[in-house]
Amino acid sequence: MTKDMVEVLLTAEEISSKISEIAERIMNDYAGKNPVFIGVLKGSFVFMADLMRKINLYCDIDFMAVSSYGNKSETTGAVKITKDLEQDIENRDVIVVEDILDSGLTLNYLMGYLKSRKPLSVRLCTLLDKPARRKVSIIPDYKGFDIPDAFVVGYGLDYAERYRNLPYIGVLKPEIYKE
Ligand code: IMP
Ligand code: MG
Repeated sequence: MTKDMVEVLLTAEEISSKISEIAERIMNDYAGKNPVFIGVLKGSFVFMADLMRKINLYCDIDFMAVSSYGNKSETTGAVKITKDLEQDIENRDVIVVEDILDSGLTLNYLMGYLKSRKPLSVRLCTLLDKPARRKVSIIPDYKGFDIPDAFVVGYGLDYAERYRNLPYIGVLKPEIYKE
């Protein structure tokens, strides 16, 4: 799969040490609390698994799945919930775990939906951020890396369902997604 990359943007080691920093911050901020982590499938599954093993707090873990009506590398903002929460989040401290914040349209919709369920608090934790692409104002509470406006894959992120299993994050060769 490495032959399909322009470059490795973030190595497995860089990702791992950044996740340790994020985990420390979350443990400080939520000391003595019992938050619910909500992973947004599928992209966040690798990040979620690594982050959770570095968080020494009593907490719940749940997942949601959403699909945007757009296709390929663009999102339209119209979001459909394909897997809802399995637990009640009323009066809970919620932390949403995402792979990447791009236009922000998906997360904007999701955060609104979660707030309508009356949690005590909702914060957003994203591994990657492409601030140059933002279409709605949304600022993550915990962030791994700002990245340039390039299409990246690996560490949970896909192109057409491929590359999620790469241990690093790479920039995909444009000829692959223009085929
Ligand atoms: P947004 O609604 O535009 O912020 O889109 C966020 C979603 O688009 C992410 O959860 C990813 O599934 C997908 N996405 C955005 N940029 C990339 C990328 O560079 N690589 C892979 N998926 C991406
Ligand atoms: Mg995706």
